[in-house]
Amino acid sequence: MSAHVDFNDRMLSLGLARVSEAAALACAGMIGRGDEKAADQAAVNAMREQLNLLNIQGVVVIGEGERDEAPMLFIGEEVGRGTGPGVDIALDPLEGTTLTAKAMPNALTVIAMAPRGTLLHAPDVYMDKLAIGPGYPADIVSLEMSPRARVETLAKARGCRPHEITVCILERPRHQEMIAEVRETGAAVYLITDGDVAGVIHCAEAERTGIDMYMGSGGAPEGVLAASALKCMGGQMWGRLLWRNEDERGRATKAGISDFDRVYSRDEMVRDDVIFAATGVTDGSIVAGVKSRPEYVETETVLMRSKTGSVRRMTYRQRLG
Ligand code: FBP
Repeated sequence: MSAHVDFNDRMLSLGLARVSEAAALACAGMIGRGDEKAADQAAVNAMREQLNLLNIQGVVVIGEGERDEAPMLFIGEEVGRGTGPGVDIALDPLEGTTLTAKAMPNALTVIAMAPRGTLLHAPDVYMDKLAIGPGYPADIVSLEMSPRARVETLAKARGCRPHEITVCILERPRHQEMIAEVRETGAAVYLITDGDVAGVIHCAEAERTGIDMYMGSGGAPEGVLAASALKCMGGQMWGRLLWRNEDERGRATKAGISDFDRVYSRDEMVRDDVIFAATGVTDGSIVAGVKSRPEYVETETVLMRSKTGSVRRMTYRQRLG
């Protein structure tokens, strides 16, 4: 008899939402307290506890770090009850530790789940990222193009002037030239201080967020999570891993990566159906943050499935006392 159990994404999705909700509730008390580590730890503990209640045979492929540097939710950790389908898990228990510590917008708890062996095992290095929303021809922009060419090409495809395009970029010294070049085209730059998973998701809802394109480098783990969200919502994304030293290349080799210059498309980072959940910690442009009242706490979660392209925003309220 085969031990294979189907990836029932529909049934598993509510469980996934519970995992991200629990992480957000656990770290909400740390909003604005200036302690990134404590906020992250609270989210990690809660996420792990909830994950271990799910009927899955899960392996963390994008997690808190390598086994020797992260005691919990490390890459390779087995999670779940050990029954049910074999799945890959990508997670970032608190995407935006600084945003949380400083009570700034768009801190999220994030998790994605897909059949075993179908998510890119990206090591914790940087990734050069480019993303646009749905409705454009395939591969209309690319990582090889200059920032100027990307803006001009996208504007042409949208039938507008570059002036009407908005590009989201992480505010970092390494992006100074890119920001200047985008602005020279007439396009607007929407700068974020952290949280590029939300940065990329913005593109999938351009009519709501006003953001047409995301570009720049950030964490590779966040890249795979963002690709998971875009696979559900529609939109294109490309990522190329960036290497700073031999140690990083060594980690990649361990993760099964041999072509160090490869550009991964969205569907090469996420090769099969995926489910994705993100809960707001602080208020943001994707979902609202945790609301704590004397009588109850409330969260908002965006829960999506790539198989159906369904995107749900769910409010969860827990009565206190
Ligand atoms: P943390 O939640 O771990 O603080 O990461 C936030 C983040 O802004 C990511 O969204 C982004 O991919 C990465 O950090 C960028 O890295 P760096 O701060 O080194 O530029």
